[in-house]
Amino acid sequence: MFLEPEEQQILDGEFGETRQQMMELLVGLGTVFGAERLVGIASAQVSGASYKTIGRWGLEWLQGLDARVAVPTVLNPIGMDRDRWREMGVPEEFAGKQEAVIDAYERLGIRLECTCTPYYLSNTHYGEHLAWAESSAVAYANSVIGARTNREGGPGALAAAIVGRTPYYGLHIFKNRQPSIGIAVDDPTAIKDAADYGALGYVAGKIVGNRIPLFSGIRPNRDHLKALGAAMAATGAVALYHVAGITPEARLPTFKADVPETVEIRMAEVREVFSSIEVDAIAVGCPHLSPAEMETLAGLLEGKKVKKPFFVFAARGVIAENRPAVERIERSGARVYADTCVVVSPALDRFDAIMVNSGKALAYVPTMCGAVARIGTMEECVAVATA
Ligand code: F3S
Repeated sequence: MFLEPEEQQILDGEFGETRQQMMELLVGLGTVFGAERLVGIASAQVSGASYKTIGRWGLEWLQGLDARVAVPTVLNPIGMDRDRWREMGVPEEFAGKQEAVIDAYERLGIRLECTCTPYYLSNTHYGEHLAWAESSAVAYANSVIGARTNREGGPGALAAAIVGRTPYYGLHIFKNRQPSIGIAVDDPTAIKDAADYGALGYVAGKIVGNRIPLFSGIRPNRDHLKALGAAMAATGAVALYHVAGITPEARLPTFKADVPETVEIRMAEVREVFSSIEVDAIAVGCPHLSPAEMETLAGLLEGKKVKKPFFVFAARGVIAENRPAVERIERSGARVYADTCVVVSPALDRFDAIMVNSGKALAYVPTMCGAVARIGTMEECVAVATA
């Protein structure tokens, strides 16, 4: 693999042991995936931030690192709201460990914005190279923004953040971004709400696996695209998808829409994902809510009181910029938490059945929270919570 002189110096240990280790990791990854060189990145997003997922060994590894990140870097959601963890019901012992993880990342120069929607907080541009780790954020960056990132593991994203570069392979190369399977829906007009797109993604991800799908016939907005990509990244390994006439690369004159096969998903299959089981908690904001979704939820909860625990998750910066909507939501008894989410917080482990409006949460809640999951639209979540 070709290295610039400064990259070689990092590999030779001239900029410290941690940078050397990180460069070894990047060169190892690049060698495995056939990268010819590294490419500079505009930003990094590092996963492995909740103590629930990284545990003691992950924490000790982080505490042993000694370097600063070279590009703007944020974290994936952690296990608790940094200010309101007691109110969430997070055990004190867990909170202490989580604080230690946060301190370790902060020492590396990482911004303590713990979110899977970093694109709401800082501009990410078409064509930029990134090293992002959270699968829904990767799908959004590649597909909706047209930026370029592989689906990094936590250590790979951290190494890229510290070196400021990542191996140039996979989705960084334009010719690898063409679709390889078509997806059509028998009744696309029936797909309306983010939960519908989440359920469609839940079904499609299992069919697509790690291929690049091209959807036709559907007309999603950006929040719908976020839900679709997150679900496909969970039940499949989708890091990039296109929607004909909607997503940026599908509108390029060079885009090759002739895919070798097209699969039709029937609405009946999508509807089967929905159920009407009894739940004891509701959680929305997977991926973290956009300002528009927060406004919609505030409107739906106006003048109502929730009778079951109702968790709302969003990025700290989005919460700060939308205080009136947050206050309207909380007047109902629902709680809006920053930094964390339904899947990575131990606070949700105490429930037996959780209602979500996300295909991704539907896929992960059973294994990560040990609860049965039910998907419904935002309206249905509010109806169940207030009935
Ligand atoms: Fe984000 Fe957590 Fe869902 S990281 S995509 S809210 S599982």
